[in-house]
Formats: sequence, C-alpha cells, structure tokens
Amino acid sequence: MSFLSATGMTGGYGGADILTDCNLSVERGEVAVVVGPNGAGKSTAMKAVFGLLNLREGSVVFDGDDITRMAPQERVRHGMGFVPQTRNVFVSLTVEENLEMGAFIRDDDITESKEQVFSLFPILAEKRNQPAGELSGGQRQQVAVGRALMTKPKLLMLDEPTAGVSPIVMDELFDKIVEVARTGIAILMVEQNARQALEIADHGFVLVQGSNRFTDTGEALLANEEVRRSFLGG
Ligand SMILES: Nc1ncnc2c1ncn2[C@@H]1O[C@H](COP(=O)(O)OP(=O)(O)O)[C@@H](O)[C@H]1O
Ligand SMILES: [Mg+2]
Repeated sequence: MSFLSATGMTGGYGGADILTDCNLSVERGEVAVVVGPNGAGKSTAMKAVFGLLNLREGSVVFDGDDITRMAPQERVRHGMGFVPQTRNVFVSLTVEENLEMGAFIRDDDITESKEQVFSLFPILAEKRNQPAGELSGGQRQQVAVGRALMTKPKLLMLDEPTAGVSPIVMDELFDKIVEVARTGIAILMVEQNARQALEIADHGFVLVQGSNRFTDTGEALLANEEVRRSFLGG
C-alpha cells in the first residue's frame, strides 16, 4: 500500500460517471504526474482524492487511514494540501495575507513556515505586501503553492501549476516542486506540459476518459512509443 492509494475511483458530478476505476498513488518524497487529454477527468480525479466528489465506488487510503468518507477540511488536517486549477489565490489580499490564510487550520506559530516559503520563493518575500492580483502568472502560482505549504502538508496536490507561464518559469517551478518533494513531501500533480512533467516524475499516470490508460515510471512512459505518439506529440 502506497503513502497515498486512490483505488478504483468511480463517480462524477451526479450525471454519468466521469471516473471509471481510476487509480492514483504516490510515495513520500516522490513526484507523481497525471497527464492526458483535455476533459480526460484529471481535475475530477484530483477533486476525488481531496474529497470534493462523492465516489460511487473506490477508496482513498492516505498515510494508513481510509479517508474515503472524510470531508476536505478534515483531509487538510490529516496532511493533504491542494492547489486547484483555477481561483487558487485571493487576488485582493497581499502575498503575506494569502500565506496566512493558508495556515487557517493551525493555531501554532506560523513564522517558520512563512520563512520557509519565502526562502523557496524569494520573489514572494520581496512582494509580500503586494496584492496577489498584481503579480505575474508565475508568481501567482508560487503564492498558490506557498499557501498550500503553510498547512505543512505530507501530500501536496497541484492541478496544472504551470498553466499559462513561460517555458523558463515552468522549468523554475518544476525545480522548486522537486525541491519540495526532496524534503519528504509526496507530490501528486496534473500537468498539460506532459513531456517536461514526466521528466521530473518518479511515476506517471496517463488518464483517458476517466480511466488509467498507462501507468509506469516517468522514464518508461517517456520511452513508450504509443505514449509518445498519442500523448506527447511524437
Ligand atoms: N463541475 C462539473 N460538473 C459537471 N461536469 C463537470 C464538472 N467539471 C468537469 N466536468 C466534466 O467532467 C469531465 C472531465 O473534466 P475535468 O476533470 O475537468 O478534465 P481535465 O481536468 O482532464 O481536463 C468533462 O467532460 C467535464 O465537462
Ligand atoms: Mg483540469
């Protein structure tokens, strides 16, 4: 059993099932990447792992506990951090206020966590008093990741963290994500920059129509002819 094991996830938004027997897993200190075409159900699978979707079937086991029926805020207390694909920062709040909001479940001293985020993303320290809405796309994604780190998660889930950023900023963000993983945090990330993401992935999942089409190491997926042709543009 992996540190996170989402097994046989089946369900949707009330109508037809979006996910069918979908499996995702990740170990501590590792990066797992979910790729696949638009509408494949990647975001839906992330929501299911975080408890924002009522699964008809399947289970989510996290750090030894079956959390399938647990509410999202309880999952945060258990060590899950989630950065959704859209509206993942408070644009009218400053960078620092965003980080403080991220720590809402904590009643201990958050100074050290804040300093850790600032040392991971130095530009955020510089812009700590600026509204997040005034930052560039890449900087905003740093705020979103930083905010999730403020709960001291054991698992960090990111839905398209590099959406809309330049290739250079994407590379930088991937470097930071690997740096976070090396501290022992498990990373489960959806990416549309599939090739680059699989390059930093310990494991990858190719999702098609709500089901796993390929599951392997990042390296093996990158070397797989069919994966390359169908999902990585050749
Ligand atoms: N809130 C929702 N209500 C109903 N259907 C949704 C909702 N969100 C997504 N869907 C549908 O679920 C399917 C998978 O969407 P999504 O998980 O966002 O895919 P991906 O993230 O892989 O692009 C799509 O057909 C989409 O239209
Ligand atoms: Mg999505």
